[in-house]
Amino acid sequence: MRLSTKEIVVKSLKNGTVVPGFNIPYLPMMEPVVRALRDTNSFGLIMVARLEWIKFESGSLKAVRDEYLRCRDENHTRLHLDHVPVIDEDDLPVDYDVVIREAIELGYESVMIDGSRLDLEGNIKATAEVVELAAAAGIPVEAELGAVMGHEAGPLPPYEELFASGKGFTSPDDAKRFMNESGADWLSVAIGNIHGAISAAKKDQKKIEARLNIERLREIRDRTAVPLVLHGGTGIKKKYIMESFENGIAKINVATAIRQPYERNVGASVKAGQDAVYEAMLAIINDELEIADSARKLI
Ligand code: 13P
Repeated sequence: MRLSTKEIVVKSLKNGTVVPGFNIPYLPMMEPVVRALRDTNSFGLIMVARLEWIKFESGSLKAVRDEYLRCRDENHTRLHLDHVPVIDEDDLPVDYDVVIREAIELGYESVMIDGSRLDLEGNIKATAEVVELAAAAGIPVEAELGAVMGHEAGPLPPYEELFASGKGFTSPDDAKRFMNESGADWLSVAIGNIHGAISAAKKDQKKIEARLNIERLREIRDRTAVPLVLHGGTGIKKKYIMESFENGIAKINVATAIRQPYERNVGASVKAGQDAVYEAMLAIINDELEIADSARKLI
């Protein structure tokens, strides 16, 4: 029987393992991502975020879906729509429902609505609308509460200051209310994680090594009991990553760690870019997330 993405992520939560999602800002990255998942007998989501067809070269929702149909391996992959913001990283409003409807029609198997730049009420309302759309198609919805920064063009506050103050971190009480009232399936949390920068000026820079407030994560898990999602998966200190999988994180998003090797090598040839992605994938699967052979438990 073919398991749905919803079932796989619930299994990941129960097993204390993780489903990684890999972002595809350039279409040729997809083939080596799928190949590395297959070669290591692991499981992952192939994902695209709106900013990757607007600011990078993934083309469109349809272009990513078509490439997915060409490369996919049902024993190792599913297709996910990452960040569709209600207000985007440049502070502009987005016709999020149009994007989500299109993705569902194209066959994306789970979607993320990101209302995290709205207040709690607004986020609940937008997320609930998307939950209704997705329910009709029988697919799960990821939502976000709290501020996972880094995609914005402006300067970030100093990381240690941010971490110590807990500014923008997900509130466990709000998380409980948010999940009850929105009906979302998975929750992306802010607990010290930040996204890799995407602005032209900063996208090639090494990401700072983030830490996680595991105590806060536990509180959120205890109040919500849903699969939690860790965005900004590149460059988090390993000890925190491993602890997060034992405390509610069932899905982790990885973009910068495979994008930068591709961009650094694609000048030589597309093949050189793809080889660099494959090597980076092996390091992530085997060493950073320790999920080699995870397909055996999840699928
Ligand atoms: P990184 O670029 O830090 O890996 O973050 C990826 C992400 O969270 C995409 O949604």
